[in-house]
Amino acid sequence: MHRTCKVTLNRETFFANRGDLLLDRAMMSGVELPHDCRSGACGTCRVRLVAGKVFGGTEHDSDMIYACQARVVSDIEVVTEPVPDPVSMRSRVAEVARLAPDVVRLVLEVPKPLRYLPGQYCKLQFRGFPARSYSPTFPLEGSPKAGLLHFHVRKLSGGIVSSALGNGILAGHRVKITGPLGSAFFRPNHSGKIVLVSSGTGFAPMWSIAVAALQEQPHRKLLFVVAARCLRSFYMYGALCRLARFPNVVIIPVVSEPQRASTAIRNGRPTDYLAGLSPDDVVYASGAPAMTAQVARAARAAGARCYTDPFLPTGLPASKAS
Ligand code: FES
Repeated sequence: MHRTCKVTLNRETFFANRGDLLLDRAMMSGVELPHDCRSGACGTCRVRLVAGKVFGGTEHDSDMIYACQARVVSDIEVVTEPVPDPVSMRSRVAEVARLAPDVVRLVLEVPKPLRYLPGQYCKLQFRGFPARSYSPTFPLEGSPKAGLLHFHVRKLSGGIVSSALGNGILAGHRVKITGPLGSAFFRPNHSGKIVLVSSGTGFAPMWSIAVAALQEQPHRKLLFVVAARCLRSFYMYGALCRLARFPNVVIIPVVSEPQRASTAIRNGRPTDYLAGLSPDDVVYASGAPAMTAQVARAARAAGARCYTDPFLPTGLPASKAS
C-alpha cells in the first residue's frame, strides 16, 4: 500500500505517493513549477528543500534539489527562488548578423518586454523548425533598445536550426519565444568575488551576468574566464575591452587550439585558470557540459557556490548547440 506524503511548495499543499517524482506530482496536482528538460540538466526545476527527505535529485552538500529527479519519501516542504514566470510570445527576426565564422548575432523584435534574469534562457521556435534554447543577452555594443532581444548562436554544419540562420531564417521570420527558464541566473547582493566561466556562445548568458553584476556594484571583484576554440571564434573581444575598464575586473581569454598570435590570450582549458577560488566566491559557468561539470567540481572543492548552464548536445531538450 502506498504511503501518502504531504508536500508544501511555497504556500501550496498537495499530496504524493511515496516514491513519486516531485515535479510529476506537482504538475498532476495543478501546482505550477517551472521546468524544461526533465532530465536533471537545465536546472529550471531547482527548489530548496526546507524540511523532510527526498530520494535522488540532490546536489552535493546543498539543500537544493531537482524536482524532476527527486522522489518524495516523506512529508516535505520546498520553496522556489523568486524568478519571473515563464510566458510565451510571438516575435519576428529583426536581424541575423555574422559575429565570427561560426557565430551569429540574432536579434528578435518582441511585442512587449520579456522579463528575465541575467543568465536565464528561452526556447525559440522559428516557424517550420524545431525549438532550440538560447540565452538573451546584453548587446555587445551600446545599450539595449526597447522591443529587441539579442542572442548569440553558434552555427553548426548540419545544425537544423543554426545552419538556417541567415539562410532560410531571415529578417521577418516568425518565432515563438517561451521563457525565461534555467537556474544559472545572477544572484545580486553578494559581497564576495564573482567568477564567470564561458566556452563558445556560453559567453552570452555570462556577459549578461557580468553587465548586471557591474551595474549593481561597479567596484566589485569579478573574474571572467572566456574560452573559445580558436582565435577566429573570439567574437567577444570588443565587449571584453569594455569590461576591462572596471577597476576590479580580471579577464582571462583562453583558446583551446594552440596559437602564437597573442600572448594576452592563454592556451588550455578554462579550469586551468580557477586555482584561486575561495568559499566567498560565487561561480557561474555556461557552455560545453564537460567544462561546466569541471567548473562545478572546482567550485565544490573550494567550497564556493556554483550555478551552471550546460549546453546539451543537439536533439536533447535544453540544447543550445544547433
Ligand atoms: S527540468 Fe529538472 S533539471 Fe531541467
